[in-house]
Amino acid sequence: MATCVEQVEPATVSIGNRTWALLRKKLSTLRTECSRFGIGAAFRLVADKVGSRVLGLKVSHVVWLDVEEVVVTAASLPKFAFRFLNAAEVAAYARDPANDLDNEFVARAADGRNSCFAALDGDRIAAYGWYARDWIEGEHCDGFGLKMPPDVVYMYKGFTHPDYRGQRLHGAVMGLALRAFAENGVKALISTVEWTNDASLKSCARLGYRRIGVLARARFLSIPWWKTSSKVRERGVEIITPTVAARKLTIV
Ligand SMILES: CC(C)(COP(=O)(O)OP(=O)(O)OC[C@H]1O[C@@H](n2cnc3c(N)ncnc32)[C@H](O)[C@@H]1OP(=O)(O)O)[C@@H](O)C(=O)NCCC(=O)NCCS
Repeated sequence: MATCVEQVEPATVSIGNRTWALLRKKLSTLRTECSRFGIGAAFRLVADKVGSRVLGLKVSHVVWLDVEEVVVTAASLPKFAFRFLNAAEVAAYARDPANDLDNEFVARAADGRNSCFAALDGDRIAAYGWYARDWIEGEHCDGFGLKMPPDVVYMYKGFTHPDYRGQRLHGAVMGLALRAFAENGVKALISTVEWTNDASLKSCARLGYRRIGVLARARFLSIPWWKTSSKVRERGVEIITPTVAARKLTIV
């Protein structure tokens, strides 16, 4: 009997400890979110977690940036060089896990349709964003595919290395990438940002992006449903919905 208690107790304590550690981590995330972005942001985070667990809910804002809105210049951040990377450079940066790149992106950099535009600090990659012409797969667009007209580019997988966050690099990379694309006739960027990603929403708003709609999907009693915005289609962008069998709601 004594042996039995000895075996059970450490397991109970360790599960208890793990639960507490997890709870502490979640509370600390909420506290940080609250102090950085306000109580509304913390509420959205909780709603998103519950909605995602119960209904598989995913909600993103669709944002749009016209080239005329871009006022940022490379001169405002003289420490960095802004340019497109080739596939060999992406492969070199992908070797460091801190850069959050992998072999899929090396292949994308070589496919002629996707490209990576980055801010470089010497030989370090400080921030980058990915850009797709013509169309984007659902896996990089919250489960919805998009088909863009030739003068619109889809921006995805924006990333700033933790050592460089808070220096306005995310916006600068996107603005300067759009300027570079504009030399080949591109007029606007379209992108999606999860409704809980306040850091990204903040840098997008600061740069001049406008919210033009929502992409939302969920699953209730095994029935998938989604919402998309007609404002997106009005700009010539076709939305490929996750499955034709699903119920579709259009919001204006
Ligand atoms: C979202 C992200 C790209 C923003 O990059 P950034 O270059 O730091 O952007 P900004 O400098 O404009 O900062 C945006 C906000 O991030 C927050 N921030 C500032 N410093 C930060 C830090 N060290 N760590 C985390 N967030 C920070 C601030 O709220 C800031 O806005 P504020 O300065 O007006 O308060 C970056 O946080 C990131 O790579 N996150 C992980 C990947 C991701 O979410 N990508 C976007 C997908 S849509």
